[in-house]
Amino acid sequence: MIPEELRQSLKKNIEHVEHPRELAVDVMFAIQDFYGSLTDEGVHEAAELLDMSPLEIDQLATFYTFIYREPVGKYVIHVCDSVVCWMNGYESVWQYLCRKLGVQPGETTSDGLFTLLKVCCIGYCDRSPAMLINRKAYGNLTAEKIDDILKKLRQDA
Ligand code: FES
Repeated sequence: MIPEELRQSLKKNIEHVEHPRELAVDVMFAIQDFYGSLTDEGVHEAAELLDMSPLEIDQLATFYTFIYREPVGKYVIHVCDSVVCWMNGYESVWQYLCRKLGVQPGETTSDGLFTLLKVCCIGYCDRSPAMLINRKAYGNLTAEKIDDILKKLRQDA
């Protein structure tokens, strides 16, 4: 169950918009931030807050790339596999990450730290190949740069 403080703060925000569903994505993100993913319990809590059905929330959630209905690691890595990144080394970045983390697409490392996924263009084409980690963009990726990024994230974990 989300903390009462979070529930009240979301309720307050919802009261300020004309239609509660305008804030559906914000509410889903807030609940996901609390649980780590949008759990079934979170879906029901979002539905209640937004005066929507759990099915509607679930349908919305599966539409958004950054809402996770399955448990994910502390850091979610989305590697861009769209055309510019693909031309500029996506494949080697992807292979390197899979090898380095010891996971396949959609999997989470055994220490629960990293989940590896692909994503469509993130608007970082001029710095391709690129990726997002917890929605923060990293570009001009090389093996060395990836090593530095992962090392820093491990230290911060
Ligand atoms: S194609 Fe990868 S960021 Fe645009």
